Amino acid sequence: MSSHAKPAVGHADVPRHVAIIMDGNGRWAKRRLMPRVAGHRKGVEALRGVIRACAERGVSHLTVFAFSSENWRRPQEEVTLLMELFMRALENEVAKLHENGIRFRVIGDLSGFTERIQALIRDAEALTRDNTRLTFTVAANYGGRWDVVQAVKKLLASGVGVDDIDEAALANHLSMAGEPEPDLFIRTGGEQRISNFLLWQLAYTELYFTDALWPDFDARQLDAAIASYRTRERRFGRTSEQVQSAS
Ligand code: IPE
Ligand code: IPE
Ligand code: MG
Repeated sequence: MSSHAKPAVGHADVPRHVAIIMDGNGRWAKRRLMPRVAGHRKGVEALRGVIRACAERGVSHLTVFAFSSENWRRPQEEVTLLMELFMRALENEVAKLHENGIRFRVIGDLSGFTERIQALIRDAEALTRDNTRLTFTVAANYGGRWDVVQAVKKLLASGVGVDDIDEAALANHLSMAGEPEPDLFIRTGGEQRISNFLLWQLAYTELYFTDALWPDFDARQLDAAIASYRTRERRFGRTSEQVQSAS
């Protein structure tokens, strides 16, 4: 077992790190005959509630997929509205996150964003960097494959020898370096796929899929996901007997 995986044997009651693909905003709006952006706006509200619920439950890391590197393929108008929404959220929500002891991070290729958004991200990260209650990470212009490629580039640039390349060395250059790997992955919106989210880090994560659309996802649904997580036996390749005798 490589050192960065640090598996908790068996299962803990509350997942330390929850990673979420917040999907279904567009369909939520469509069902109400509203424009897709109304679903994204409602999605920001849902996220506010889930951040609070995670903090209350003692989750220490929450990572959400807000915009994939493939989402640029959407109609220009939707992309523009999503960027505006992201900017407004950065302007309006960060102070509250800070008041609540939340450390805020963004992972992804930030060069794809406007200077204004990049500056807001830098300021928010600097303001909240010493907070310890919950680390809240937004994946924006993020792709799991992009992350592996940029890590390999950094690793090679560091002058590392071929024989020194191992899983830990590569993991040290990924966007989530130093953070625990997700224990629980949640995808709303009914699709059962990873869509290029945290490919490397999800290797041993417990997966949970729900048909609930993201704007409808709330603390009660989070509890259902955590309840499902609690029933899982995390074996990390071992036998059930080994896991039980170790715990
Ligand atoms: C997720 O909701 C939000 C983003 C990808 C930005 P969608 O916009 O993908 O909603 P659906 O899947 O079309 O319902
Ligand atoms: C995944 O949702 C990305 C985000 C939620 C930001 P998509 O709606 O883009 O995923 P696909 O296209 O259905 O796989
Ligand atoms: Mg979608």
